[in-house]
Amino acid sequence: MRTHELSQRFQNFFAARGHKVVPSASLIFDDPNLLFVNAGMVPFKPYFLGDVTPPDKRVTSVQKCVRTGDIDEVGKATRYNTFFQMAGNFSFADYFREEAISWAWELITTAQSDGGLGLDPARLWVTVYQDDEEAVRLWRGIAGLPESRIQRLGKADNFWSMGVPGPCGPCSEIFYDRGPEFGPDGGPAVDTERFLEIWNLVFMESERGEGTDKENFPILGPLPAKNIDTGMGLERTSIVLQDVANVYETDLLRPVIDRTEDLSGQKYGAKHQTDVLFRVIADHARSGVMLVNDGVTPGNEGRGYVLRRLLRRIVRSTRLLGVDEPILREFATVVLDMMAPSYPELVADFERIATVMENEETAFLTTLASGLKIFDLAVRETSSAGGSVLPGAKAFQLHDTYGFPIDLTLEMAAEKNLTVDEDGFRQLMAEQRARAKADAAARKTGHADGAVYKPLLDLGATEFTGYQELESEATVRGVVREGTRVASAEPGDVVNVVLDRTPLYAESGGQASDAGTMLGDGLELEVLDVQKVHRKLWVHQVRVRSGELREGDHVLARVDPEWRTGARQAHSGTHVVHAALRQVLGPNALQRGSFNKPGYLRLDFAWQQGLSEATRSEIEEVANLAVRRDLPVSVAHMTMAEARDLGALALFGETYDETVRVVEIGGAWSRELCGGTHVAHSSQIGPVALVGESSVGSGQRRVEAYVGIESFRYLARERTLVRDISEVLKVPGEEIPAKIESLLERLRSAEKELEQLRQAELRASAAALAGRAESLGGVSAVVSTDHDVPGGTLRTMASQVRDRLGQAPGVVALFSVVDGGKVAVCVATTAAGRSAGLAANRLLAEALPHVEGRGGGSPELAQGAGKASAGIPQAAAALRRALAG
Ligand code: ALA
Repeated sequence: MRTHELSQRFQNFFAARGHKVVPSASLIFDDPNLLFVNAGMVPFKPYFLGDVTPPDKRVTSVQKCVRTGDIDEVGKATRYNTFFQMAGNFSFADYFREEAISWAWELITTAQSDGGLGLDPARLWVTVYQDDEEAVRLWRGIAGLPESRIQRLGKADNFWSMGVPGPCGPCSEIFYDRGPEFGPDGGPAVDTERFLEIWNLVFMESERGEGTDKENFPILGPLPAKNIDTGMGLERTSIVLQDVANVYETDLLRPVIDRTEDLSGQKYGAKHQTDVLFRVIADHARSGVMLVNDGVTPGNEGRGYVLRRLLRRIVRSTRLLGVDEPILREFATVVLDMMAPSYPELVADFERIATVMENEETAFLTTLASGLKIFDLAVRETSSAGGSVLPGAKAFQLHDTYGFPIDLTLEMAAEKNLTVDEDGFRQLMAEQRARAKADAAARKTGHADGAVYKPLLDLGATEFTGYQELESEATVRGVVREGTRVASAEPGDVVNVVLDRTPLYAESGGQASDAGTMLGDGLELEVLDVQKVHRKLWVHQVRVRSGELREGDHVLARVDPEWRTGARQAHSGTHVVHAALRQVLGPNALQRGSFNKPGYLRLDFAWQQGLSEATRSEIEEVANLAVRRDLPVSVAHMTMAEARDLGALALFGETYDETVRVVEIGGAWSRELCGGTHVAHSSQIGPVALVGESSVGSGQRRVEAYVGIESFRYLARERTLVRDISEVLKVPGEEIPAKIESLLERLRSAEKELEQLRQAELRASAAALAGRAESLGGVSAVVSTDHDVPGGTLRTMASQVRDRLGQAPGVVALFSVVDGGKVAVCVATTAAGRSAGLAANRLLAEALPHVEGRGGGSPELAQGAGKASAGIPQAAAALRRALAG
């Protein structure tokens, strides 16, 4: 059975049992604790915690997951995959243990001809949490499993949580016995290679707090209701269903290995060392494609760094297999064929995905070369110092700056008969990791803050009235100061306020929060910021201007109408610019992020190259024409599926919500999922002025624009600037470029003339100096100490003087004082002088000590620099003595 078929069967089975089929969330689902979605339940976390009421009590999904803890282990064994798919069925305060166990058993043991997976019940084992007698009873009763195939394990194995504070509970795992050729008998408690875990059923009933590891964390209390979260690893289950030895032999990875065999001419399965490379390529190529598809681009931190590391490991591995051509596009094509049945969206996005991967490959090939230079230099330095160990700092630099994985550095060092100070390297890595961890911890505290709002959320979500009105009567539900709930606040205090309803827009979807005020009996609050907490609660940061603020107060919450006008213009303007970009550049120019506030917007979009001036003008023109056409702006609510059918553009990380809000400008001209505030007609946006276009990381560009009155002001500033320049240059505006061009031309020829004069002057003074040559010990000598030119000029002068001394034995020694006291010295000899035994470097050595100088050169020409200009007369005297002697 192909994996796509397995995925379909799973979802159909649960759909037939009242579950709503929901699509996989993006891998970069917005959860501050997670780099990537790593389990099927992640998008549903707020439902388990009871923060948000789920639209359906039963859902099923096949979720894309990425785990990055074991990247280094990938390929060494066949166990780990960075990307995998988790099929799950979920119950939110609906069914519990009994149905979960009974359906799981039914699905996996029903014959394939009847829609099941057809696994032999005699080969199935389960584990349960040690105290979970209920689960034991059910497995015996429902599945008829003998006590011997139900194993009880501790918290580390059979108590599941996300590893961070959140929902948790005892779990029960289902294993398939692959037979004695895979390992010893004794069940999953003894061997998990032979007994392969395929499905985990979690009986989610508690909430956990912060802890130190898998076993040590406090249980904070029961969840509001009992829930079910299950996860079947599709990759693992395919191993069993396709009857292959490991995941690399399944239809999910083997095609990449086959292609690698073709490209490299090497055979998979021939020797461990190369097998590791094959597996790294297969695993990483698939993860790379899926990550890029979900909007990750290679970078130096966070998600981007993980992607970069994966792609570079592929490039290195193929090189070690002897393939020198760029290969990432090729692998992306193979992955596309493998994965498109389950993820048809890959097809439309393919060109972009392949280009992002290709660009990263090209970039690495550049650092690869510089990295190799750094490496060679380090090898030479180490060897010439008689050492045999490359410093850890070099390995770290190669890893960190040039993207060289440590094992590549180790291998290359071994070829040069060197080792690497791995301890030093790991020390630096540990320091880097510690910094990253401190970073993550800081992010988490921000998140934990949310706990103080939980009781307020229990009173109900905030009602947002700001689509209909700019002023609303509201009640203060709670006041929070520095993370603690307080009863009141005084003038001057800055606190957070939660109301039952508010017209103030909370920052989201790229739109900045509204400015405004809250007024009460003698009370005046200035709104500084508005954020959503737990997605449903509006938290207003306010400064108390006057009066005392108390919980329970009635207030009039007001949006500053000027502000809101600007905000609506800017947000509608963002949609217009997005639509214009796609109209001009094509549908691949998809928005990746945006920010807008009154008067200003910026939009990041997927695109590789910079935009030409002509393209920018065209985009601006399309946007302004849309404004002039006065297109109607309308808002509709519909299901996600309906929105998708209409082709509405959704950004990544959207939550799974029953209904979505779709904003249209001119019907299908611009159709986006959006919660923002918008103008009613496009002409209300006012003029749009694009002001910048730049790169923000690989494969992503940013445009910035002013809209409305700010756009007018921007253009007015430009006009003033042109007028000022035209006054200074005394030409009309349209002649400015030609005028500047001719001024630059004149400047260049003046500089050239100046240089010619300088050379002539140099020649003249060289002639004068040569004319003053004295005779010292039979040598024609020019010793001159009163110059003030830099070392380079002094050197030119010395050679010119020497040339004028002709065929006689001669020497020139010039001293110059520059930069407030620094001494430059230059000594030159004629050929006849050298034949007579003169050497410029030896003569220089006589002079240098007197000016506290250092330097050197050849017998023909030597140069030095010193600190003590007071010593120049002595230095000159020493030279003369040496010549006379
Ligand atoms: N959430 C459970 C897991 O990830 C099903 O194993």
